[in-house]
Amino acid sequence: MEKDPQTLIDKAKSAMDNAYCPYSRFAVGCVLVTESGKEYTGCNIENASYGATLCAERVALGKAVSEGERKFSTIVLVSNGASIPVPCGICRQVLSEFSDLYIVALNVKGDKIEGNLSDLFPLAFNL
Ligand code: THU
Repeated sequence: MEKDPQTLIDKAKSAMDNAYCPYSRFAVGCVLVTESGKEYTGCNIENASYGATLCAERVALGKAVSEGERKFSTIVLVSNGASIPVPCGICRQVLSEFSDLYIVALNVKGDKIEGNLSDLFPLAFNL
């Protein structure tokens, strides 16, 4: 990660403040960094139908891709709870469409998991 990790963690925390999570009360924020160094934030957006919930990762990715971005280097994730917000299976697949990015995920206590997407998600499906 080229940029100071604390700066990215702080940015992810600000995005987490916008999480819409009335059902789980588990707020997630993230910042997705492009290879050129641009940053796109995301938060989870839950829905009464539950299954229509968007994770923070896919919100940030959708913002970035819709702005023309295709290559990503890093995603930093934070949560407001004890669980570390490692990307779910759907997000792993969706992120893997674009880049083998570096993932850093922290819970509220600062416990951290980090590593490359391909280590977390080997044998991704692609066409
Ligand atoms: N969630 C994320 O946004 N990202 C993760 O990496 C883990 C889970 C959200 C989905 C749901 O709104 C809430 O956290 C509880 O699963």
